[in-house]
Amino acid sequence: MLKNDLLIRAAKGEQTDRVPVWLMRQAGRILPEYRAIRESLSGFKELVETPDLAAEVTIQPVDILGVDAAIIFSDILVIPEAMGLPYTMVEKKGPYFEQTINSEADLKKLTSTNLNLNYVFDAIKETKKRLDGRVPLIGFAGAPWTILCYMIEGSGSKTFSKPRGLLYKNPKMAHQLLEMITESTIAYLKEQVKAGADVLQIFDSWAGILDKKQYAEFGIRYINRICEEIDEVPITVFSKGANFSLGELKDLDCRTIGLDWHVDGKTAREIIGDEKTLQGNLDPCALYAVDDVLIQKVTEMLDEFGSQKYIANLGHGVYPDTDPEKVKLFIDTVKKHKFHQ
Ligand code: CP3
Repeated sequence: MLKNDLLIRAAKGEQTDRVPVWLMRQAGRILPEYRAIRESLSGFKELVETPDLAAEVTIQPVDILGVDAAIIFSDILVIPEAMGLPYTMVEKKGPYFEQTINSEADLKKLTSTNLNLNYVFDAIKETKKRLDGRVPLIGFAGAPWTILCYMIEGSGSKTFSKPRGLLYKNPKMAHQLLEMITESTIAYLKEQVKAGADVLQIFDSWAGILDKKQYAEFGIRYINRICEEIDEVPITVFSKGANFSLGELKDLDCRTIGLDWHVDGKTAREIIGDEKTLQGNLDPCALYAVDDVLIQKVTEMLDEFGSQKYIANLGHGVYPDTDPEKVKLFIDTVKKHKFHQ
């Protein structure tokens, strides 16, 4: 039983007494308590792969910041790794894959069944035990398109020209790879739910580099397959930069649509309609503002979205140099807000 079930209620479209709030990338990145643990280890992956420590950093934002949900400390890149492409997290640079997928023959090297991701499920179980029902736990995965981007490009990129090029050069191969990633992700998310995840979020961080037609064909189609296969818990889909596709995301078989800061709450609600819950969408840079400005921005956001079927969050992950005090002010402003209706 959950003592604070605001997020679940909002995600299911049920009445809530106040708006729930959490932050994308709240675990890691900003807290000195995270850095202390991180610096005692060989690297990021050791933390991800040690359930006891992953549980500890997952719970830190609940204890320190007062968020209404925990998100399991892991990474979207565990999927390509389990499929056969190991990555390293290069200090200050980000992920790097020694091998990438360059041809149809390379697809044969990948596996999409019996993935070894037990360390994630163990971390979820341990976190659930330690949370003891205080708040819900969010499980997650990358969307197939975003995962394909890393498997083809091999690292972060300003343009992701290799994966985008593939859609023109060999769309058949792109579909084959997306198919494999989708199968892996469905099995992975189902196991996360079995281990105890109360809600799931799908991160499509690179949705916005496609055009609308491409995003329908290579993005949304596979996200919807995942949504259709999982009905155990509510799902949130966050397609960053893809507001041009809101009219299509509206028809996804999911409960919540995550929004970036390029769209305002009223417009998003008009396009998406009243059925789904919305999540977002303060510009993470608003947390660099002086207190009064931050409070004003959060207040405007809340009034635009309204008190129901809404989960307050940022429009993307919190930036690493954000002052935790500003994050607390963001959270407290949401919690104290009085709606005039
Ligand atoms: O939300 C949370 O706090 C839970 C943990 C989480 C991480 N990554 C931990 C992490 C989540 C949900 C992610 C998702 C993720 N990972 C995304 C999608 C969300 C987004 O921000 O768009 C993406 C694209 C990745 C891939 C990735 N992982 C990159 C590009 C990098 C390097 C730059 C960065 O974001 O820090 C990572 C590393 C990473 N993942 C860190 C953390 C805490 C920093 C590693 C460190 O401590 O050295």
